[in-house]
Amino acid sequence: MTEKILPTLNRHSSLKTPFSSTELIEKIQVLRKEKNAVLLAHYYQDPLLQEIADFVGDSLGLSQQAISTDADIIVFLGVHFMAETAKILNPSKKVIIPDLEAGCSLAESCPPNLFKEFINQHPNHTVITYINCSAEIKALSDIVCTSSNAEKIVNSVPKETPIIFAPDKNLGKYLIDKTGRDLLLWDGVCIVHEAFAIDKILKLHNKNPEAKFIAHPESNPEILKIASYIGSTSGMINHVKESSDTEFIVATEAGILYRMQQEVPDKTLIPAPAKEDNTCACSECAFMKLNTLEKLYHCLKNEGPEVKVPMELRKKALLPIQKMLELSC
Ligand code: 13P
Ligand code: SF4
Repeated sequence: MTEKILPTLNRHSSLKTPFSSTELIEKIQVLRKEKNAVLLAHYYQDPLLQEIADFVGDSLGLSQQAISTDADIIVFLGVHFMAETAKILNPSKKVIIPDLEAGCSLAESCPPNLFKEFINQHPNHTVITYINCSAEIKALSDIVCTSSNAEKIVNSVPKETPIIFAPDKNLGKYLIDKTGRDLLLWDGVCIVHEAFAIDKILKLHNKNPEAKFIAHPESNPEILKIASYIGSTSGMINHVKESSDTEFIVATEAGILYRMQQEVPDKTLIPAPAKEDNTCACSECAFMKLNTLEKLYHCLKNEGPEVKVPMELRKKALLPIQKMLELSC
């Protein structure tokens, strides 16, 4: 499954420019002003893209920024479901993304026709979906959530109402543990968080006994069991900032380490090792890394590829996202 859905890491080949990174950054700065564009980036993006962005955040923060912007163009430096959510929230804006192929294993694990059947087989359930899914799946949902607010959203549903949770089974299991609710789970995983290796993490921890192990809730239950803190990307950054500890082993996509280290320059951050990763100790999302500085330049220059959502679908997908935003205030 992993091989089928993984994009080829094609960071520089197809859209090469004759410009250096410095020249590209200058050109991007001129274009963004000319076009009144705002650049929103996820923490997993390449550091060069995080540096140039107006706002860097987690999935919830990015959605909130997408509503409040007065820019004419939103350039989404993240994956497709994030850009699509921005378009659903702010349809009058042009939403563009450097690489339209930047997908997500969780979103791809949940085809709308199969999910519709699943819902029909389990009537009377409230359907909560993680924001890492397509507009079609959101349109079939009652409430959307992110890893920042998932617990609050589940707890907002009356105790006697059964819940379907999709597409991330690991986040779902974590929520069952936290809320004591019996969630009916869809069988999806994030290929990046699924790849962390418990044996390698334990070895690393033995070598660095002072280090605290922190993890994103998309990780396997066996990984979460040994974590001293579990939270969204923003939650993990805040925790490392606020904690009196000075050394951390970090189990989430390696791009987060760039911003995290800027926030805590004097602390030691060690990326958690992945299963089939013998060369480096980090875990990268190949989808997130499809976006590059070159592609950003072309994207701004050509005002595309554009992310579009048909009006009827947009209206249906908007309601569960709005419900989440109301509950997140
Ligand atoms: P958050 O930034 O909301 O924690 O999500 C992590 C993620 O995997 C995004 O694709
Ligand atoms: Fe999807 Fe995982 Fe990549 Fe996030 S890190 S975009 S959940 S595949």
